Amino acid sequence: MNFLVIGSGAREHIMARRLSDVGVKIFSILTNRNPGLLNLSEEYLFLRSYHNNIRITVDFALSKGIDCAVIGPEDPLALGYSDALMKKGIPVVGPIRQLAQIETSKGFTRDLLTKNNINVSPKYQRFDRIDGAEDFISLLSDEYVVKYDGLMGGKGVRVSGEHLRNKKEGIQYCNELLSKGGSFIIEEKLLGEEFSLMSFCDGNNVRHMPAVQDHKRAYEGDEGPNTGGMGSYTNSNHSLPFLTDEDVREARDINEQVSRSLKDEFGEGYRGILYGGFMVTGNGVKLIEYNARFGDPEAINLLTLLDNDFASVCMDIVGGTLEEVNFRKEASVCKYIVPLGYGSDPSKEATLIVDDKHKDYSDLYYAAVNLEEGGSISTTSSRAAAIISTGEDIEEAEKRCELGLKYISGNDLFVRHDIAKANLIEKRVRNMESIR
Ligand code: AMP
Ligand code: GLY
Repeated sequence: MNFLVIGSGAREHIMARRLSDVGVKIFSILTNRNPGLLNLSEEYLFLRSYHNNIRITVDFALSKGIDCAVIGPEDPLALGYSDALMKKGIPVVGPIRQLAQIETSKGFTRDLLTKNNINVSPKYQRFDRIDGAEDFISLLSDEYVVKYDGLMGGKGVRVSGEHLRNKKEGIQYCNELLSKGGSFIIEEKLLGEEFSLMSFCDGNNVRHMPAVQDHKRAYEGDEGPNTGGMGSYTNSNHSLPFLTDEDVREARDINEQVSRSLKDEFGEGYRGILYGGFMVTGNGVKLIEYNARFGDPEAINLLTLLDNDFASVCMDIVGGTLEEVNFRKEASVCKYIVPLGYGSDPSKEATLIVDDKHKDYSDLYYAAVNLEEGGSISTTSSRAAAIISTGEDIEEAEKRCELGLKYISGNDLFVRHDIAKANLIEKRVRNMESIR
């Protein structure tokens, strides 16, 4: 079989690896020269951007006899790559544009939940002008979050008391978003611990993956700007140390209800990965956001642990025949190597050198880097590579991940070493104990 993988980060590198492991031929659409994807691909098409390149992508897919396309990032979903490929008879793991609104419009998602009585949103209000914003912030007792109502790579959200020190700064940010031609949402600031629960959906059937925790903040101790994600872990029991069984059940149930609501709304089922970003609070599980795709880095944990053949899971998603999906009962820890200053002012001097000895402890997936002529790897302003290890428990997986990282060198690189270490996990467990 021939698969088209769209996207050129670590998430797509592991997708291609899992597919080629079972003998599938990989064709890729790349926006950077990811060495891992270049190595796995029979052929590839290089795009400067996803904008205005749907036709050339569809033509490439048709000429290569693609049996199934898998879309990694949000941009091609938002632009309608799924719609265009499906129109030409190519099945796609990844929802059509209308259904991808679950990610591309935070306002749409909040309203969909409200309409369907899925009561897991904080108090919120949508704005396309500044009128009323200050009053709503006061109504929330100055405990609020401002969100750009569109795609901003996980970086459009600012939280009071953290990024926004006072009401004036909050209003300033709202005005900044309006001046860029955007609309925004203000919502109640939730207190608790975040986790992701992703589900495979085939239009009717929903099959859940283990819970996983990403770390969005750039610096150790959860400080600094929000990023695309600095690292993530899963536990061998497929839950997380600060979650109860009931929390996991609630999150799964929310994904199932949302999948049904999307079908009711549009008459067409959601085919792809439904990613719920949740916060467990003193009042149960609440929704932070939905994504219409695999999380990155979360995909790296989950595709490492997936026990089924990934190509068959994809064919079941597009065919509406999704049955049991199983994951190994091991823990996993993934840490991203990023250019120093990633999230605010990334170094332009960063270099990445990978010693294959890391393979004794870990796997490595390349992200937004470029293979140069001569074989060196140059970084960009985004994440460079993800290192992942598994183990009987989180502690073992974390230790192995750190051992693997010792074989990665270069200049101006940064890793959040605190991710999945006992200290940070205990802090989260204690936080939830005090909140509950
Ligand atoms: P999002 O892009 O919606 O996932 O938001 C990025 C990050 O902002 C989340 O991972 C949270 O850390 C934070 N955040 C978003 N919404 C809220 C909320 N209502 N309360 C507290 N934190 C939030
Ligand atoms: N890990 C966050 C995201 O993929 O959006």
